[in-house]
Amino acid sequence: AVDPDVKWLGTPISELKRMPECGRPLPPLKDVPGQHTVMIRTDLLQNGKVPVPHPSKFRDTWDDVHVKMPCSSWNLFPVEDEAKGKIGQSCIMMARALLVHWLSSPVSFGGHPSSVVLMRFASSCVKNQGGLYYCLADERDGNIPFGVMGRVVLEPDSAEHLFDSLLPDMVQLALRASELCTKPIPLLKSGMNHSITMSQEQVACLLANAFFCTFPRRNSRKTEYYNYPDINFFSSQTPLTKLHITCEGTIEDDGYGMLQVDFANQYVGGGVTSAGLVQEEIRFLINPELIVSRLFTEALDHNECLIITGTQQYSKYTGYAQTYQWSGSYQDTTPRDGWQRRCTEIVAIDALQFKSFLEQFRPEKINRELNKAYCGFARPEDQSQNLAAVATGNWGCGVFGGDTRLKALLQMLAAAEAGRDVAYFTFGDSKLMTDVYNMHSFLTQRKISVGEVYDLLGQYYSSVCKSCLSRRPDVSLYSFIYQQLWITKCVRPPLAAANET
Ligand code: AR6
Repeated sequence: AVDPDVKWLGTPISELKRMPECGRPLPPLKDVPGQHTVMIRTDLLQNGKVPVPHPSKFRDTWDDVHVKMPCSSWNLFPVEDEAKGKIGQSCIMMARALLVHWLSSPVSFGGHPSSVVLMRFASSCVKNQGGLYYCLADERDGNIPFGVMGRVVLEPDSAEHLFDSLLPDMVQLALRASELCTKPIPLLKSGMNHSITMSQEQVACLLANAFFCTFPRRNSRKTEYYNYPDINFFSSQTPLTKLHITCEGTIEDDGYGMLQVDFANQYVGGGVTSAGLVQEEIRFLINPELIVSRLFTEALDHNECLIITGTQQYSKYTGYAQTYQWSGSYQDTTPRDGWQRRCTEIVAIDALQFKSFLEQFRPEKINRELNKAYCGFARPEDQSQNLAAVATGNWGCGVFGGDTRLKALLQMLAAAEAGRDVAYFTFGDSKLMTDVYNMHSFLTQRKISVGEVYDLLGQYYSSVCKSCLSRRPDVSLYSFIYQQLWITKCVRPPLAAANET
C-alpha cells in the first residue's frame, strides 16, 4: 500500500547535479559558418549590457534555407496603384505608415479610432486577420472576440495601458526587425546539426512580429513552411462545416430539433405587440410564449443573444408581411426534454440595419455581425458532436437591408467556429441557393479555412468597396473571392460561378 505521507522516493533531490555548479566553463562564443550562427557581437558581450546585433546592417535574404523576414524588401503586399495597376508594396513601409497613424490618433475611450487602425494594420498590411490582434481590438469596443481566444474582459485601466502604451511599444519593437535581427536566421531543417545564438532583445523583436502576424509565408500550411510549426499568432484555421441549403421550407417547419435563428430586433420580439409582421414577429405570434421574454429582457448588446428553449407552436400561417394570414391552430408534437420543455431552441440575434449597401462590408461591421452570430451559435461548454445544426436563412437581409450573400457567408463562418453545421432556408430564392452552395462547396473542397475567408472579406473592402463611388460595388463579393483564390492559389472557380451576380 502507498503511504500517504511519502512524498518522494529514490535519491534525495539535493544530491542531483545542477547547472551552473556542475558545468565546465563555456568555450568562447564564436560564429562558425555552417555550424553556429551568432546574431550578436561577441567581442562586446558584457554582463548587464544589451548585446549588440551583428552585423551592423541588415542582410536581406529570401531563400529556402533562412527565415523569410517581415522586413525583407522581397516581402511585398499586392496593392492597387492608379497609374500602374497591381504593384507590390513593401510591407514594412506600409507598417510604418500605419504606425504613424496609430500613434497620432487621439486617445479616448469608447470608439477609439486606434482599434480601426489596428484592424486595418492587421488586415491590409500583414495580410491576415491576426486573431489575437483582433481580439484585443474588439475588446476595446466591448465585443466578444471572434476567433481563437474566448472572452477576455479588460478593466478600463488595463485597456488604457494596453492600447496606449504596451501595443504601441510592441509595434515599435516589431518594426525594429531590420535593425535588431540583421543576420539571416538559418532554418533548422530536419537532419541538420546547427546552433543559433541570439539576444533576448532579438527574441523579443521576433516575438512581437509573431504577435502582429508579420512573418511572411507563414499563415498557411500550403507554403514551403508546411513542415514547420505555426509562428504567427494567427486566427482561425477552422474548416467550414456542412451545409444544407434549400429554397423551400422555413426555419420553424423544417429546422425542428435544430438551433433556430430568430432574425431579431435588439428589443426582442421587435414589433410583435404593435406594428411589424416579418420573420421575428411571425415567430412570436405562432409561438406566443416567446412574447413573455419581453417582460424581462433588456435590449441586446452587440455581444449578446437570447436563447429561448421550450416554446410551443400554437398556430399555422400563410403569406408573409402584408399577406400574412392565420390559417388555423397547430398541434405541436415536438418531444419534450428532461426538464419537460419542448425541444425547440430559438436564438434571438439582432443584425445591424444598413441604410447604405457598402457600409456592411466595413471590417468593423463584419466583425460585429460575426461576433453576434458566433455569440448566438457557440456553446463552449458543449462538444461539437453534441450540437444541433443551426437553422437559419436571410438574417438581417429583409427589413434590415443586408446582403444575403455576405450574411450567408458570415453565418457559415460563425457556425464553423462554433462547430455546428448549417441548414439554410433561402425563402424561395433559388439563385441564392445555387450561389451559396457553389461558394460553400468551392471553399470546402479547396480546404479554405474560416481565417482565409475572413481575410478575403477584409481585402474585398479595401480593394473594392472603399474606393467605390457608386451605390454598389462593381465586383460582387463572391466573384472577388473566386478571383482572389484563382490569382493567389491557382484554384479554379466552379463553372457555375461564372454566372454569379
Ligand atoms: N424562415 C426562413 N426565412 C425566412 C422566414 C422563415 N420563416 N421568414 C422570413 N425569412 P426579416 P431582418 C427570410 O426582414 O432583416 C423585425 O421587425 C425572408 O427572405 O424579418 O433581420 C425584427 O423585429 C426575409 O426577407 O429580418 C427586426 O426589427 C428575411 O428572412 C427586423 O425585422 C429577413 O427577414 C429584422 O429584420
